[in-house]
Amino acid sequence: MSAKPVRVLFVCLGNICRSPTAEAVFARDVRAAGLDPHFEIDSAGTGDWHAGELAHPPTRAHASTRGIEITHRARQIRPSDLDTFDHVLVMDESNLENVLALAKSEAHRAKVRLFRDHEPGAEGAEVPDPYYTGQFAEVFEICERASRGLLAHLRARHEV
Ligand code: 4NP
Repeated sequence: MSAKPVRVLFVCLGNICRSPTAEAVFARDVRAAGLDPHFEIDSAGTGDWHAGELAHPPTRAHASTRGIEITHRARQIRPSDLDTFDHVLVMDESNLENVLALAKSEAHRAKVRLFRDHEPGAEGAEVPDPYYTGQFAEVFEICERASRGLLAHLRARHEV
């Protein structure tokens, strides 16, 4: 385990539904594993419409009934995030395209992956956008499965 924290950024479109959920679920799992000193975890949106806002109320309500308070304030991704963060997990193919458009090097591109690539059996799948589909409960459950897979992946690679 390295002394340098592993920096993980979750990215969606608005940063008010999927990526703040992924951030909060992953942070809970990291705390439960006693690994919080070894991580820095954040989320961002490719769009800036909701910058400064708390997550969408139904997203917060669904998380809250499962014991997770989402306190993140939305922000837009910055090109420098690809320097700062070690792993950038995106929710869908559109996010992937938009984040890769900010990449300036192969090292940047290598940091970016679909979040569900870490969910066993769902590699290559997208996290549906509950802002449009209403699938708040399903998105929460996807985030739980993908979060567990991501943490297992980082532990297997001895990053933490
Ligand atoms: P998210 O969902 O990307 O999961 O945060 C969205 C929320 C808001 C908008 C788009 C997606 N919007 O266009 O306002």
